[in-house]
Amino acid sequence: TYVVGEACIKCKYMDCVEVCPVDCFYEGENMLVIHPDECIDCGVCEPECPAEAIKPDTEADAAEKWGELNREYATLWPNITRKKDAPADADAWKDVENKFAEHFS
Ligand code: SF4
Ligand code: F3S
Repeated sequence: TYVVGEACIKCKYMDCVEVCPVDCFYEGENMLVIHPDECIDCGVCEPECPAEAIKPDTEADAAEKWGELNREYATLWPNITRKKDAPADADAWKDVENKFAEHFS
């Protein structure tokens, strides 16, 4: 499966939802997650994300921390299938590190 990671937080460009063939993205206030049981591993979302937030769970970091988080929140947050306007300050958050502690949701 593919996993959304920290880089999505406060960027939330939503280009990913436009290309996903199975609509398996779920929306929190500041980021999206992928439902791991619905993702068919096609990989088309990965290059679409301007923040490079999407990774295959074969990468250790994506799997360990973000795999569990994607699974948990995909069952709590609403499904999103259409791109909306990204946050006005999305570009300013693109290269910020350690966004999780203060801005995750
Ligand atoms: Fe959707 Fe494919 Fe990305 Fe999985 S890898 S979230 S199925 S676009
Ligand atoms: Fe997030 Fe990238 Fe999608 S910033 S909302 S994973 S396009």
